[in-house]
Amino acid sequence: MNAPIKAVTKAVIPVAGLGTRFLPATKATPKEMLPVVDKPAIQYVVEEAVAAGLEDILFVTGRNKSSLENHFDRAWELEAALEQKGDDFRLERVRKSQVLGDIHYVRQGDPRGLGHAVLCGAMHVGDQPFAVMLGDDLIDHRDLLLAQMLDIQQRYGGSVVALIEVDPAQVNLYGCAAIRPGPGPEDDVVEVTDLVEKPDPSDAPSNLAIIGRYVLHPAVFDVLRQTPPGRGGEIQLTDALKTLAGMSPESGGGVHAVVFRGRRYDTGDRLDYLRSTVRLASERKDLGPEFRSWLREFVGSLPPEDGA
Ligand code: UTP
Repeated sequence: MNAPIKAVTKAVIPVAGLGTRFLPATKATPKEMLPVVDKPAIQYVVEEAVAAGLEDILFVTGRNKSSLENHFDRAWELEAALEQKGDDFRLERVRKSQVLGDIHYVRQGDPRGLGHAVLCGAMHVGDQPFAVMLGDDLIDHRDLLLAQMLDIQQRYGGSVVALIEVDPAQVNLYGCAAIRPGPGPEDDVVEVTDLVEKPDPSDAPSNLAIIGRYVLHPAVFDVLRQTPPGRGGEIQLTDALKTLAGMSPESGGGVHAVVFRGRRYDTGDRLDYLRSTVRLASERKDLGPEFRSWLREFVGSLPPEDGA
């Protein structure tokens, strides 16, 4: 008889990357701390974890990440100043980030890839399935992707990834999945048979790309320890998932995927960062009305594109 599947309570959030696509903004500031409207991107991700019931959060950090640690810590001087002014509204906003979850840190000395960053969480996670969430990948809070992935993991075991459909010509920017129909009736849950990191569009098995949400079986740690550096000399999480997809369920293998059709923003990419800021600002109750009316006027004043 198979052992019962352990509940997921922990989220690992790797934030040790160099953020080269966003230089020079990310020279001294982690990309996860860039504000999306008026909150750093990482706070949206932590709020998503907590909303899905994952209150034990491990950040895998590197050099230059102290502003992120400070953000989730108390800011005594700031609180005292706001208290003195009687500014309860801002005081509550400042305190919000420090009451989110039970936050832990581990350092990844060398940024040797996402797979290596996840492996740095092995001691903390132990022998239970866990979530991995990328700190620059935002999922709209109205789209309950993580909750659905946790449910699939509890039902089918193994690991679960999230896929989106991308333009076939852009598949070389992502990890790409080969799939077959899933075991259940849901048409957005499929089984992953193979994975390729950043394939040439002509060799890609599909246009389904992995995004930054994973629920992983702890067997991934042993697999990662044996995974040699892949593309770019980095230990790739995609390579470990490919191995897991080929392993038996008894040894922790099997990878399912949720094909996500909701709202997602890759805030590590400059264009998507701008889109997320505009969209989220225009939907805000406080800023939205004024911002939307300015935006309409601004769009109306734009010159046509060349050739349009
Ligand atoms: P990216 O591929 O986005 O790399 O990493 P990056 O260095 O952060 O950013 P660019 O591409 O140079 O602009 C995917 C995720 O994995 C983390 C990153 O912090 C990001 O959340 N990561 C990557 C690590 O934690 N450690 C690593 O060694 C590599």
